[in-house]
This record gives sequence, C-alpha cells and structure tokens, in this order.
Amino acid sequence: MEVIIQADYDAVSRVAADLVEELVRKKPDCVLGLATGGTPVGLYQELIRRHQEEKLSFSKVTSFNLDEYYGLTPDHPQSYHYFMNEELFDHINIPKKNRHVPDGMAKNVEKWCKSYENKIKRAGGIDLQVLGIGGDGHIAFNEPGSSLVSRTRMKTLTEETIRDNKRFFNKNETVPIHAITMGVGTIMDAKHCIMIATGEKKAKIVAAALEGPVTSQVTASVLQMHPKTTVIIDEAAAKKLKNHKYYRWCYDRKPTG
Ligand code: PGA
Repeated sequence: MEVIIQADYDAVSRVAADLVEELVRKKPDCVLGLATGGTPVGLYQELIRRHQEEKLSFSKVTSFNLDEYYGLTPDHPQSYHYFMNEELFDHINIPKKNRHVPDGMAKNVEKWCKSYENKIKRAGGIDLQVLGIGGDGHIAFNEPGSSLVSRTRMKTLTEETIRDNKRFFNKNETVPIHAITMGVGTIMDAKHCIMIATGEKKAKIVAAALEGPVTSQVTASVLQMHPKTTVIIDEAAAKKLKNHKYYRWCYDRKPTG
C-alpha cells in the first residue's frame, strides 16, 4: 500500500486525477470503478478540466459505479445516477452505453446483482477503482460487519452513514436505509485501488483503516491485503497516522522506472 500525503483537498484531487489520466492515456479502453460522495468531486472536476482543456478522451472507457440507494429512481436528485451525470458524465465523453451505475429500482435484486458482477467480468474486470471512506470505515456501502469476500448485493446502512449523508438531502426528505453496493470482494478484484480522504473528520478512521487490524468492522482495512492500493490523503486526514513520516519519506524517494 502506498500512502501519499498532500497539502490539501485540491492537491489530493490532482494526484488522483494524475493516476486516472495515466491509465486512460496508456489504456484508452480501460475499465474505471467510480465512487460518489463529497470527496471525489474535486477529482471529477479535474478530469473534466483535463478533458476540456487538455484533450483527455474517455471515448473508449467503460465505468462501473460502486453503489446506489435502493428505492431512488435515476432522476432523483439524490440518486447516484443523478450525481454521476451532474458531476462527471455530462461533461466528459464516456459513451452512455459504457456507463454502469447500480439500479436502485431493481425488482429482483439478487438476479440484478449477479448480472452486475457478470458485466464487470465481461468488461475484463476493473482496472482502477476510486474509493472514498465513510466515517464508519466503509468502502462503497460495505458497512461494519460486511463479509470481506462479499459480492454486489443489498446492504442496510448504519445510522452513522444515514446521518453523514443527510447533508445531501433536503430537510423534508429521508435518506434511504438500503443500498445496492459492490461487495468488498468485488472491490478487491480491481487491479488498482485508489482511496481518497480529506479533512480532520476522517483522521481517526483513516488511521484505523491503514494502521489498525484488518477487520470487517472497518471494511476499508481490507485494502491492506490488496496487491496495489494507493491512498491519497491530505494533511488533516493524515493527522493520526503513526507512520506518516515514513510515508512521506517513501514518496519523496519513490524509485523511478
Ligand atoms: P464522503 O463519503 O466522500 O462524502 O465523505 C465517503 C464515503 O462514504 O465513501
């Protein structure tokens, strides 16, 4: 696991965008795993800028999103379909047929989830998976106690996640309590994972995920067992890491070639 500590949110977004750009230029038909939430917005803005100003093309890219609230239609302003259109898809050129976001209205959820897994497989697997981390340590909506080998399925959100995500909803709206989410095992199959986190609020859970035991109670901790994960965080989110000096030392002396 590589840990990259940057000064602030913008720098984190730029370094994450560098990794996405590097892959897209090297492998134009790559498969991206995409995340929602507040954290990746800066990354998406940077990708949009590079698309518009620097001719970064996504015309052959395929994407799979991590999760979607169960019960929200794609045109619901708080759905992750809507979020992805607003924050990324409407501004870059990933072909519509290549974009995949879990169906929050799926009737036969089990069957739908299996077909999502199959689609990922048929696409050749995910080359680069973007991840945030929840206040309770979740990756995607894999809440504490999720099996570390789980696949795409329905999950019940924790009170903490519902509270955290309330900020995106209007006062009179209720946050859905279920979601369809890629499993921890689905994420672990990605060839490269990048986890981004910023702000002091994330410092404790980032330390637990990176330096604590691997446990289903903090599903992000399983990334310690992933063969290629890059964690990109700002100074504030790195505050509680015991080995932060060593991570900086490594980054400054990164071998080339
Ligand atoms: P956030 O969410 O980016 O809005 O903090 C992260 C997550 O829940 O994965």
